[in-house]
Amino acid sequence: MENQEIYNMPRIGDIAPDFNAVTTKGKIQLSDFAKDKWIVMFSHPADFTPVCTTEMSGFAKRKNEFNALNTELLGLSIDSIHAHLGWVDNVRKNTGVYFDFPIIADLDMKVSKMYGMLQPNESETAAVRAVFFIDPNKKIRLIMYYPLNVGRNMDEILRALKALQTADKYKVALPLDWKEGDKVIVPPPTTLDEMEARLNDKSIELTDFYLAKKSIN
Ligand code: BEZ
Repeated sequence: MENQEIYNMPRIGDIAPDFNAVTTKGKIQLSDFAKDKWIVMFSHPADFTPVCTTEMSGFAKRKNEFNALNTELLGLSIDSIHAHLGWVDNVRKNTGVYFDFPIIADLDMKVSKMYGMLQPNESETAAVRAVFFIDPNKKIRLIMYYPLNVGRNMDEILRALKALQTADKYKVALPLDWKEGDKVIVPPPTTLDEMEARLNDKSIELTDFYLAKKSIN
């Protein structure tokens, strides 16, 4: 594939590129979608395929957990709106799981190209499994890319979302394998005075001046 624009991928910290799109819940403009909320936007390679069905069902079953975190789900694949509607109906009939969130029909690949979801050495026609975490200021905060043949981990997607929101709320960082309830990392000192204060702070779990944890519960 010659098209150079597919290699212009958004980066963490960028404002999410705006677009309008047709979805299973009607037309949307990203800049107007889910105002003041987080958005988890994710692509899947194709409707009516097995791994994608498990993943979309995973998002659907845990939609309430995303909503409780002030977050809206937004799916996407390079399929027609008719394929999306047929698949949603088929999965509901077969399993009782209903994909009750908008799924973009990106037939012209406009959004897939804009977000680096089309990775031609993996597939020239199907989006890879991408997840974009977009904050209420429409800034991209975390990006995941998975290949066509490996499903994502819903616990990790929710954990990452909680970690981003916790980092913002408490101005902290989150260590390896952090989960809700665990101690968080206090940002390292940047002056000698701050370092001295840190070394004498009895309220934190101090390994050394650059590594300190505290409880936020
Ligand atoms: C799947 O969802 O099972 C799938 C889709 C595209 C390529 C490979 C697997």
